[in-house]
Amino acid sequence: MKLLLKNIKELLQIREPGLQKVAGKAMSELPSIKNAWLLLENEVIKDFGTMDTLAGTSADKTIDCTGKMVLPTWCDSHTHIVYAGNREQEFVDRIKGLSYQEIAEKGGGILNSAKKLQSTSEEDLYQQSAKRLEQVMQLGTGAIEIKSGYGLTTEAEMKMLRVAKKLGEKYPVTVKTTFLGAHAVPTEFKGDKGGYLNKLITEMLPKIAQENLADYIDIFCEEGYFSVEDTHKILTAGNSYGLTPKIHVNQFNAIGGVQAGVVHDALSVDHLEIVTEEDISVLQGSDTMPVALPSCSYFLSIPYTPGRRLLDAGLPLALATDYNPGSTPSGNMNFVISTACIKMKLTPEEAINAATINGAYAMGLSETHGSITKGKSASVLITKEIPSYGFLPYDFGNNNIETVIINGQTID
Ligand code: NIG
Ligand code: FE
Repeated sequence: MKLLLKNIKELLQIREPGLQKVAGKAMSELPSIKNAWLLLENEVIKDFGTMDTLAGTSADKTIDCTGKMVLPTWCDSHTHIVYAGNREQEFVDRIKGLSYQEIAEKGGGILNSAKKLQSTSEEDLYQQSAKRLEQVMQLGTGAIEIKSGYGLTTEAEMKMLRVAKKLGEKYPVTVKTTFLGAHAVPTEFKGDKGGYLNKLITEMLPKIAQENLADYIDIFCEEGYFSVEDTHKILTAGNSYGLTPKIHVNQFNAIGGVQAGVVHDALSVDHLEIVTEEDISVLQGSDTMPVALPSCSYFLSIPYTPGRRLLDAGLPLALATDYNPGSTPSGNMNFVISTACIKMKLTPEEAINAATINGAYAMGLSETHGSITKGKSASVLITKEIPSYGFLPYDFGNNNIETVIINGQTID
């Protein structure tokens, strides 16, 4: 099936094959062609050009994109969308004055979600998560990373990862999975973190690897959760099963998580609400992608990742949602992009690069996603009629996406 998009006002994010990511000053460039056509054939981008070169191109279906922009779908490289129930009550507790950490100390937080998830059947968990996935696909997400970490028992962690994998099989969106057993110390191991880590390494990891349930390994490296030493231990164990790290660091405190990630060649280090000069210089010498999660900062009223500072230091940056029940009950990448511009001082070009090509890198998908490139996945957004692409972040909170095509399939 050949699908032709014609009269495109501007076709954005056109890149040569092989480009992995963009960093520093290069993030301010968003290569495009005006008055363009784009041909999708089955699951891939077949060809594109300016309208004066269209003659002779045949298609089974044509969409007229007059006045509209076309760009690659968003790559959301950090989510926890497989979860059970919600944490609405904690939201109210926070409004009334408790902090995120205080709620966790009272047995709420991640442990609250774990309790709910453990008693939810796999089918129910799938249905609850599928609803969220459908919602984010409509908002323009075409590739997504999904973490475990609300199971905290071998069976429940595996249940989460099976659900995440199944979502990737049933929907056209590309899914990457991450084992986050080290998200919190479960109640049964209270006061015995070492015992839990031991179980994670000797029991959970081997089973998850054997059933091929995870692409990546993660740990919440933070005061009150897991230390830098724990991080080295878990990442070393993950490495022995071929799992590359993508880790939670510097959400509340800079305790050395960035350094630990870089030592283990992490694909990404995520959160970074707190960033030291040392973190920046360690990242400068690495291939590790810093990932900012501005919706989390918004929802928890914590600092925003200093995105401007990272880019001015020549670093790359990716943007993701962190969609989860506790710190970010939203998977809207459009809001993330607006918030990155408004609060982190990224320009529209920088934010779009961070949400497409760099997001693809942060989940190992640079070869297939994140840009308009011949041979890449036929995953594109068609906007409504808008004056320019800068209108997308400017017009925050409003939906300017008209059509989403993921892997060649039009999403209703
Ligand atoms: O990325 N910070 C750690 N994990 C999640 C939130 C966990 C939760 O509160 O359920 C995050 O923000
Ligand atoms: Fe997270």
